[in-house]
Amino acid sequence: MPTWTPWLCWAWPSPPLSCSAAVPTCCSWRSSGCSTHPWSTWDRPGWESQLLETGFLAIFLCPLWTLSRLPRWTPTSRIVLWGFRWLIFRIMLGAGLIKIRGDRCWWDLTCMDYHYETQPVPNPAAYFLHQSPWWVHRFETLSNHFLELVVPFFIFLGRRMCALHGALQLLFQAILILSGNLSFLNWLTMVPSFACFDDATLGFLFPSGPGGLKARVLQLQEDSVHGAQPPPKRSCVVRRVVHLALGLLLAWLSVPVVVNLLSPSQVMNTSFHPLRIVNTYGAFGSITRERTEVVLQGTASPNASAPDAEWQEYEFKCKPGGLWRRPCLLSPYHHRLDWLMWFAAFQGACSCLSTPSPQTYEQNEWILHLAGKLLANDAEAASLLALNPFAGRPPPRWLRGEHFRYKFSRLAGRHASDGKWWIRKRIGPYFPPVGLQDLRDYFRERGWPLPQPDSGAWAAEK
Ligand SMILES: *[C@@H]1O[C@H](CO)[C@@H](O)[C@H](O)[C@H]1NC(C)=O
Repeated sequence: MPTWTPWLCWAWPSPPLSCSAAVPTCCSWRSSGCSTHPWSTWDRPGWESQLLETGFLAIFLCPLWTLSRLPRWTPTSRIVLWGFRWLIFRIMLGAGLIKIRGDRCWWDLTCMDYHYETQPVPNPAAYFLHQSPWWVHRFETLSNHFLELVVPFFIFLGRRMCALHGALQLLFQAILILSGNLSFLNWLTMVPSFACFDDATLGFLFPSGPGGLKARVLQLQEDSVHGAQPPPKRSCVVRRVVHLALGLLLAWLSVPVVVNLLSPSQVMNTSFHPLRIVNTYGAFGSITRERTEVVLQGTASPNASAPDAEWQEYEFKCKPGGLWRRPCLLSPYHHRLDWLMWFAAFQGACSCLSTPSPQTYEQNEWILHLAGKLLANDAEAASLLALNPFAGRPPPRWLRGEHFRYKFSRLAGRHASDGKWWIRKRIGPYFPPVGLQDLRDYFRERGWPLPQPDSGAWAAEK
């Protein structure tokens, strides 16, 4: 039986999905172009374009005007369904190809030895999964290749294989959700996978019985098989023309994406057109072998190099910091600052290997912006953290960034029995101790206003 029914609209008994999807999609396009915050210049994770693309297709999924759960004259367009299938195909194949092109560990199957520990924001399950025997990690890597390089082609092998593809992708994404905090990326990737299921596969979700939705769908399908369909109305012709135009647009915008997929110098998470309707995706093209963290520390001591200066650590909401803190559970949410800190830490680590520190913060100027705000005990900046050791006290005189290598403690080992989830070793300074006055010129050159410390707190200290 052909896919006739508006499968996703069924789940929304009232206002058509199209209206509700059109608004946020248009809003996100607008906002993605006009953000001016210093952090936002490169804080564009791939899931943002993926959200745009998924939302854009959703605009056309359901009829615009009818509230009916089974709009007889406006069946779901095959073009839109294939748009979703094409999306999930590109997401998965792109992710698979970038891996085998990007990193040797995907060839020798050792990537999963590192992934759980070095992923952006590990969760508690990652701690335990990391401790699995080596052959489990080999199997995981191999399964990943199968799911990303072989399974996507199932989409084109008929309805049964397409449904199998959908089921395998849902399972895969569920495992990824359980094993890490990758924001809403995995939840979002589930959405286009649903386009692989047809009426027969999804039928179990709906009650059967005479006069029910299922019976009416069956009747419609029989009518269409026997050619008992009245000629289409004029508005339906307009709708078909719109869908055809959509199909042509998607095909045209897909050309550079396909060229990129086939290219040996494939790039990931890129848009080739300002509308960002058809993009290229990919994740974990290369795997960092070691986890490094930047730890921000402040001191009230007037002399930062005095040996008795007591440095206290700021704690982020979710990223590893304190060794006794359990990894957090956060998906489908994410804390942007924690992700930025992850990027900052391993970019620093790369330059640590080639050139001596402390030049490492220079690719991440925003981190000094944050330091400046913390030196003023800025309430907004502090609200992005889990613990500000100077809360309710005068702000620190000095702030520094220290660079550490982090590892999970060994399960049932000495550190684990002390209650430590992490062990760490200092690499060196990430940025040297800075005071608010030292940052004056740095801030002025970049056009940032110098944060003003709460004068009451200063006076209290003097
Ligand atoms: C700060 O402490 C260091 C180390 O004890 C010392 O060499 C330096 O003179 C001190 N600076 C000031 C301004 O007291």
